[in-house]
Amino acid sequence: MNRRFFLYAGTVATGAIVTFPSMGKTPTSHNVFGNLIFTADRPGRFAHKAKSHLPIITPVDTPQGQTIRVETNHEMNGYQHYIVKHQIFDQDYNLIDEKLFNPKIEKKPVSLFKLDDYSGLIYATSLCNKHDLWLAQATV
Ligand SMILES: [Fe+2]
Repeated sequence: MNRRFFLYAGTVATGAIVTFPSMGKTPTSHNVFGNLIFTADRPGRFAHKAKSHLPIITPVDTPQGQTIRVETNHEMNGYQHYIVKHQIFDQDYNLIDEKLFNPKIEKKPVSLFKLDDYSGLIYATSLCNKHDLWLAQATV
């Protein structure tokens, strides 16, 4: 086990991610997750699948307050091939909310998340049952 991974794994194990191991870089631009999480810059073994798996984050103003819409341009083909869930995290990687999809009912993987008064960096993940976990970020 290399030193960087050991330090990172230890931080995750204690549940205390305070800073990212590479100063000034975010998960979407850095390879710290290797092939665990794919991003636009690091699509790994599924590079040809990036367009249909990266979550698209769109801020939406609603009467109830700031909301973001997360969409994955992916099929919902029953339980054979579908998006399992969307999750959103704040800039410190705290889970804000998640949406589980039922591919028998939902025909598009689209979710809405109310942010209340949160502003700053936000991360969204999209999990495909065949092509793993994809991460995108936006500033709201
Ligand atoms: Fe997929």
